Amino acid sequence: TKQLTSLYQHFEKDFKMGAAINQRTMYSSEEVIKKHFNSLTAENEMKFESVHPNENEYTFEISDKIVAFAEKHQKAMRGHTLIWHNQTSDWIFEQSGRLVDPETLLKRMKDHIDTVVGRYKGKIYSWDVVNEVIADEADKFYRDSKWFQVLGESFIEKAFEYTHLADPNATLLYNDYNESNPGKRDKIYQLIRQLKDKGVPVHGVGMQAHWNIYDPSLDNIRKAIEKYASLGIEVQITEMDVSMFAFDDKRTDLTEPTEEMKALQMERYLQFFEVFKEYKKHIGAVTFWGVADDYTWLNDFPVKGRKNWPFLFDENQQPKEVLKKIM
Ligand code: XIL
Repeated sequence: TKQLTSLYQHFEKDFKMGAAINQRTMYSSEEVIKKHFNSLTAENEMKFESVHPNENEYTFEISDKIVAFAEKHQKAMRGHTLIWHNQTSDWIFEQSGRLVDPETLLKRMKDHIDTVVGRYKGKIYSWDVVNEVIADEADKFYRDSKWFQVLGESFIEKAFEYTHLADPNATLLYNDYNESNPGKRDKIYQLIRQLKDKGVPVHGVGMQAHWNIYDPSLDNIRKAIEKYASLGIEVQITEMDVSMFAFDDKRTDLTEPTEEMKALQMERYLQFFEVFKEYKKHIGAVTFWGVADDYTWLNDFPVKGRKNWPFLFDENQQPKEVLKKIM
């Protein structure tokens, strides 16, 4: 049989091919990672609560291991994520049992960014600086978060400024989900446009791309990429997975995907990669939020305990049929 070429080598001239890994999957999927990907993201290990559990305590053991793994295999490394409303230690928002004052919060934020970005300076080519601050609701612009409550929208530009100072060569992204939804993509566009107008160092947008076999439409994906690219910024696909379930599907009884699901997923993957190639001028990297179907965060989200099969590699680390067709 014909030897399957490598995914990242196939797209080397177009964009980087990435995968999120954790301290377990970097070993269980090591062969697939080595062969098919040239960019890695830590799934949880660089998040605030993982590296900065207490004010005067930074814990870099696991993130260091992941960065060392990337270096050993000569893979580029992305950073995820600095400022987010989730997986962020409570202490940063507290001061003598009350909500922290703005000045103190900014100081703590700067310390966090200086320390984390500084530690990996020159080793991380792109940071997801600010994650998910735009609201999903049509009548609301920003998400309500502790960051927002204390600092208003100013925390966003500060985060980019501090990150740029800590590593001037890294590509700095604003990252979000539902990024192809018409209402939300307009708000994301406006946010980045305002930042750019003010001269804030934002260099790109991360489209998380938590998609499924039905949604979003190719048309909405194209429009999102075009709209973001019209700002003259880089677009990255940062957390791609293609769930077998529609958004409102709550079934938990499937132990394997149906033939129909598999066929639809193959068709969708082919279409997505056609779109990525079409816009390759604007796309710097396409990263999956995992490697192979034996492990995905979608096994617990949004329906607890439901198995999913979102990737290009199956539960046995074997490429799905669609891989040959993509390349
Ligand atoms: C997810 C991880 O995959 C899970 O392991 C964790 O329990 C929750 O976070 N958007 C993001 C990612 O930016 O950080 C999230 O990752 C998925 C949604």
